[in-house]
Amino acid sequence: MSKHRTFLAALALSAGLGMNAQTNELVIQTKKLGAEIQPTMYGLFFEDINYGADGGLYAELVKNRSFEFPQNLMGWKTFGHVTLKDDGPFERNPHYVRLAYPGHDHKRTGLENEGFFGIGVKAGEEYRFSVWARLPEGASSEKIRIEIVKPNTNAERHAFASEELTIDSKEWKKYQVILKPTQTEDKSTLRIFLASKGTIDLEHVSLFPVDTWKGHENGLRKDLAQALYDIKPGVFRFPGGCIVEGTDLNTRYDWKKTVGPVENRPLNENRWHYTFQHRFFPDYYQSYGMGFYEFFLLSEEIGSEPLPVLSCGLACQFQNSDPHAHVAVCDLDSYIQDALDLIEFANGAVTTKWGKVRADMGHPAPFNLKFIGIGNEQWGSEYPERLEPFMKAIRKAHPEIKIIGSSGPDSEGKQFEYLWPEMKRLKADLVDEHFYRPESWFLSQGARYDNYDRKGPKVFAGEYACHGKGKKWNHFNASLLEAAFMTGLERNADIVHMATYAPLFAHVEGWQWRPDMIWFDNLKSVRSVSYYVQQLYAHNKGTNVVPLTMNNKPVTGAEGQKGLFASAVWDKDSQSYIVKVVNTSDEAQPLSLTFAGVKKKEVLSKGVCIKLQSTDPDKDNTLDNPQAIVPVQTEVSAMGNAFDTQIEPKTFAIYKFVKTTK
Ligand code: AHR
Repeated sequence: MSKHRTFLAALALSAGLGMNAQTNELVIQTKKLGAEIQPTMYGLFFEDINYGADGGLYAELVKNRSFEFPQNLMGWKTFGHVTLKDDGPFERNPHYVRLAYPGHDHKRTGLENEGFFGIGVKAGEEYRFSVWARLPEGASSEKIRIEIVKPNTNAERHAFASEELTIDSKEWKKYQVILKPTQTEDKSTLRIFLASKGTIDLEHVSLFPVDTWKGHENGLRKDLAQALYDIKPGVFRFPGGCIVEGTDLNTRYDWKKTVGPVENRPLNENRWHYTFQHRFFPDYYQSYGMGFYEFFLLSEEIGSEPLPVLSCGLACQFQNSDPHAHVAVCDLDSYIQDALDLIEFANGAVTTKWGKVRADMGHPAPFNLKFIGIGNEQWGSEYPERLEPFMKAIRKAHPEIKIIGSSGPDSEGKQFEYLWPEMKRLKADLVDEHFYRPESWFLSQGARYDNYDRKGPKVFAGEYACHGKGKKWNHFNASLLEAAFMTGLERNADIVHMATYAPLFAHVEGWQWRPDMIWFDNLKSVRSVSYYVQQLYAHNKGTNVVPLTMNNKPVTGAEGQKGLFASAVWDKDSQSYIVKVVNTSDEAQPLSLTFAGVKKKEVLSKGVCIKLQSTDPDKDNTLDNPQAIVPVQTEVSAMGNAFDTQIEPKTFAIYKFVKTTK
């Protein structure tokens, strides 16, 4: 204990404040500025799972808008005289519907879309209906009436928004009209009537809120994108996850199909439609309406480094034991070219082929891509032998791009032990580790990275979450253990350069996997406690690690450390020390923080303490009670170089002190 602190401790004791024998003294060595914390340290992992994209972040409200689901009218009800045609204007989405006179003035022709678990609309907001249409019989004009309706109602009228559109060309043309619902409904439907006596063809039937994130027409749901922005994420990984790989190669995520005019992006299967039979969703497909351009744009708009992950030519290995299911190493050329072309799409001049595609979509400036992942959860020798030719080609053409390899689906064990040395041999820049593990694992991994090889690749903790044993859903204790584990990421920021919790989104009616970070229904969303853990780390990440010890040892929840985990950083921008402490135990713990090396003329002023705690470890925020467990900030003051306090049971606390000079 420093002289400075001894004096203060004596003072405190004499004042009866009590620093008893059990006090846990955390010493922060302020003069030993450690590793720089990477701007990418805390980020986001996005995958179209749990209706995260279509039916979620992607704000399109119409399901199967291009009639390309294998059951072409899935999501639609038709009435009267409607026929499906397949020679439409968009090569990769050839189907459309023809609406014809029903044969009697008192009969009706039209169709109705059920949306994703219904269509959510808000009273007074504007919704843009758009459609590609033509008059196949050459009439000069025909009409459709578009309504937002609530069919299961006792009210006088089903419709609470209604507009007419005149179709006036025999050539395919895009039409649009704004609808303004007079009531708020989370489960309405979209009804379209043929409103004249002729014949009209309709394709790419779409309904978006006008008020999307940043107002983009092919836009994102505002509350969900805002939640991403509010984290201040350093990196944004997309598009997954297992969907990168595909159940078979045909259904892998193929980025080239996701750019260009949205009407011509082909439909893809979504593996999460059938992965779990106990949560089976036969209407879950990827429209690719939110494709790679939209992902890059979102990364930019939320201030993150974009991190695309591409197929390495291995279809999902969980689902394919037949070696022929994968691309042979000698046939990887087109896959490797996809990676090179992606770099050109993101960074190339507008005069290049793919740079021009980006520019034509509205972003002539490069997206400044720095990282690329090759392969998701791959394993066995079949992975490194495929990764190697990708690396050679990317290194040759783009030595500036950092390449991320995989350590497989497990946090340890045979595949993990095999792949890490392979990644070192290949000189991957970062290695992606995944761990969905129970409480005991998180409690035992506080020192996971303390002894990692400092000369090898850096770590990307690319997918992780605490999956409570017998409680595989969101609850406070799981999030608390994530916070505890993250002190170890922070202490090892010299080697851990990125960490992204997963999965990100889940629709309350459409999930396949939980826990998740952000839950939503058709109108509302809720940020889980795990969200707030991520946000607290990202907002308080600091610029440099500073050593923090208790009895000269890092605080990792080790035996004798009473369930405490802790780490500390210096933030040069705000000139503050930030200490994170997690008490995972059921006991309150007296704490004293000693900022060793702070001089007498220096003052630790403007102290704040931010706490995340709950009296019920099984609880989480819900759509009905979204603020049940949120961070609470109070002011605190240090005395000299010391701060004494108590941390309650099951609590994540951040103590932040600005350093000023007297
Ligand atoms: O996050 C859900 C899934 O978990 C991801 O798709 C996959 O990479 C992992 O197995």
